[in-house]
Amino acid sequence: MAGKYDDLSKSQLVELLEKRDRSKKLGLVWERDEIAADKAIDENFIACEVIPDLSEKPAPWSNLVIEGDNFDALRWLRMTLAGQVRCIYVDPPYNTGNQTWVYNDRYLDPEDRFRQSTWLEFLYRRFILARDLLAPDGVMLVSMNDEQRAILELMMDEAMPGMKLGCFVWRTRKGGYDSGNFSKDHDFVMIYCNPKFAFAGSAKQRDDFSNPDGDPRGDWTDDPLQQPKNYKQREGGVYLIRDPETDVYYPPNPNRVWSVGQKGDKKLREDSIEELLDKKLIIFKKKGEFVRYETLEELQQAIKDRTAHKFARLDLPNLSEWVGKKIGTGSVRIKKFLNDRKETPNPLSSLLDGVVNDDSYSFEAGKTAEGTRAIRAIFGGDAFEYPKPPSLIKKLVEQSTRPGDIVVDFFAGSATTAQAVMELNAEDGGDRRFIMVSSTEATEEEPNKNLCRDVTAERVRRLNASDDPKYAELFAPFAYLRTRKIAFEDLDYDLPPKDAWTALETLHGLPLTIYDDKSAWNMHASEAVTLVMVDRYEPALLDWLRDQSRKNVFVYAWAPGQLARELAGIEVEIRSVRDTLVRSFQQ
Ligand SMILES: C[S@@+](CC[C@H](N)C(=O)[O-])C[C@H]1O[C@@H](n2cnc3c(N)ncnc32)[C@H](O)[C@@H]1O
Repeated sequence: MAGKYDDLSKSQLVELLEKRDRSKKLGLVWERDEIAADKAIDENFIACEVIPDLSEKPAPWSNLVIEGDNFDALRWLRMTLAGQVRCIYVDPPYNTGNQTWVYNDRYLDPEDRFRQSTWLEFLYRRFILARDLLAPDGVMLVSMNDEQRAILELMMDEAMPGMKLGCFVWRTRKGGYDSGNFSKDHDFVMIYCNPKFAFAGSAKQRDDFSNPDGDPRGDWTDDPLQQPKNYKQREGGVYLIRDPETDVYYPPNPNRVWSVGQKGDKKLREDSIEELLDKKLIIFKKKGEFVRYETLEELQQAIKDRTAHKFARLDLPNLSEWVGKKIGTGSVRIKKFLNDRKETPNPLSSLLDGVVNDDSYSFEAGKTAEGTRAIRAIFGGDAFEYPKPPSLIKKLVEQSTRPGDIVVDFFAGSATTAQAVMELNAEDGGDRRFIMVSSTEATEEEPNKNLCRDVTAERVRRLNASDDPKYAELFAPFAYLRTRKIAFEDLDYDLPPKDAWTALETLHGLPLTIYDDKSAWNMHASEAVTLVMVDRYEPALLDWLRDQSRKNVFVYAWAPGQLARELAGIEVEIRSVRDTLVRSFQQ
């Protein structure tokens, strides 16, 4: 029987052995065919065809729904959008043994001995492609359950080295337990990101700022004027502060003395108390309330009797200064203005429980049941099992993106992520774009099944058309694309101009339009670029290009050398359609 290494040349075998020697011994091991894996990415070229009848008009389209295996869709996206995606959210099949996962046109057998390895390798191949899509401030968020989280995390550490930020704990349901009187009602959302990524977090509470005295410097709050040193450790902080308006003197708490010094204090680094008083930054609480001791003996006796001012101590270095003065009973504080405060948002908590603490922000996300209800509301039945709740993805996207960003979900299922993006855009007026990738889930038994067309894209269509007031503000036209494999050697014949046009528009950051194949050349101009793809040369092209006052004109042709001769004298760079796409594909 032929072995799997029989066809390999000696150099391939040596390469394989060297690779194995280099590979880490610590970490997760799963069965994988390294040669097949290495070859797969460049085994063939991927084209995406716009299907106008399944697209949601009007064009031009910024949102995309891509039908196909996400391995192919990701290869196409890596060619066209590498380094540009701000947020990827995915909810891959959990591989729990239920038959919910179509792999290579069949459901993965729950009894398969290699079930976990197949799952890990399946995800690994997709994640290394997804990694290349992320912008320098991009993030990938991956939903996972308790059972699979540990191996997924180890695998992701290999697929996305150095990119782990942590993971969210999300409560999926109320009550219920599995076994051992232990309720597994939490899922996880793993966070892997590029170095410039940060969650939005929350703005600090501003409620405690106000302006009761009409201070022209604006709203303020007051902070203590203390430091964590006692009167023996820092004698320079043990003095009486005089309120010039009331002539009342305030002693510090002997266990937390004044944090500012007096004029002449050698340790003074910032404003002295005298300067702060001049700037009207000092607040006296219980203003005007005081006690008075006429003699030192009276004060000492009161201390012994425990009836003295709460801050009086027999061994205070300045006790005699208290005598004969009005000694304030309130505290002394310093004004802090909202305008001076640097807005450092509270960091986002990893626990999604809605409890907002002083030092972290936590949002509450809906439970799984919310996702099911949303599907029923839109489809009138259970068109999809276990969709995620829109509120979970909406909050994750809100925390990870700004208007104008691209959000990708390449395990889109029922397109909850698209709905989340639509809702968020409606809320903040943003123009985030979504790219949903979904398989058809067609199998030998159900060859005509098309989940992408009938559920993924259909959800967005229904939201666009819905007269439910909840969805009234939602509207997102999208182009429906279908992936297709083409052998590299057949590209010149099998890649139709319209599919090349779709790839080039995406590559240049342009929304998609329908290619006019009757025209000798197609043109698409935005403020930033003008894209021209020439199918055949006509003299009118020369005149048109001559008239162009625009900058950033990119002219593409199938035979650039030939076109360059026709256009001699015009200063424009002519690029090869084929070389540009193949180079970007094989990066
Ligand atoms: C857990 S579901 C995602 C559910 C989704 N988050 C929602 O809220 O509806 C996973 C989806 O991935 C899809 N899927 C599985 N393998 C795929 C592949 N190779 N390419 C594209 N989609 C795939 C399945 O069809 C399924 O719809």
